Amino acid sequence: MLKKKIKKLDSLKNKKSPIVCISSYTAPIVKIADKFVDLILVGDSVGPVLYGHKSTREVTIDIIIEHAKAVVKNTKDAIIVIDMPYGTYETNKKVAYDNSIRILSESGADAVKLEGGEQIFDTVDYLVRKNINVMGHIGMLPQQSNGKYYVYGKTKKEQNQIFKDLKSLENAGVFSIVIECTVHSLVDKLLKNSTVPIIGIGATSGCDGQILVAEDLLGLTDFESKFLKKYVNLKEIISNAFKKFSDDVKKRKYPIKKNYYK
Ligand code: KIV
Repeated sequence: MLKKKIKKLDSLKNKKSPIVCISSYTAPIVKIADKFVDLILVGDSVGPVLYGHKSTREVTIDIIIEHAKAVVKNTKDAIIVIDMPYGTYETNKKVAYDNSIRILSESGADAVKLEGGEQIFDTVDYLVRKNINVMGHIGMLPQQSNGKYYVYGKTKKEQNQIFKDLKSLENAGVFSIVIECTVHSLVDKLLKNSTVPIIGIGATSGCDGQILVAEDLLGLTDFESKFLKKYVNLKEIISNAFKKFSDDVKKRKYPIKKNYYK
């Protein structure tokens, strides 16, 4: 079943049919999103987005597992990928394995995502050999930049590094790779060299798929970026609803008789 789900991404790439992904962490949102997306990432952006943390580094394995459980329980169709939090995979491949097994067995999710390329080749290779489905993440890496967003790929050093990162992850056997906030001409070159589905965020429309954080695209966060398109202004809608509730309570217009119990 899982292999079939993951193969679906390859087949979408081969058919040049864009893969739709969101990063999301709560039951009410994923229940709605499930039928419109191919993949849901329980991203460590949960820290800044839901908990008001300054960076993704503050997210713990316990927090991500609780959100992962909620997402798995409330979805049927999408592939569910869980971010491995900062500090849970970088130092040692065996620790990474134990943590990935814990995340997947406690949540029932399909795969994990790790940030990095060449530097974490041994770990990714080890996880894949142990039958863990791994998604890669290259370009601008939020865990490493510690909350300071920037555009990756402006220097020669970064331009050379990203090709090594792509090939390392492909050789290690990832099923897909996220590429974040990277200069578009560089992304276009990478795409010509890629063999697995590449999911862009702040990349180009030529990527095999796109991902955005659900709360960002819904206009619920203060996050602003050139790459972000807000499809609705939920902050304004919610604010208006709270104002109406507040007015009703103050004027004793709520509750009314139809809300009473007999
Ligand atoms: O944490 C996250 O939500 C992510 C996506 C933005 C790719 O890593």
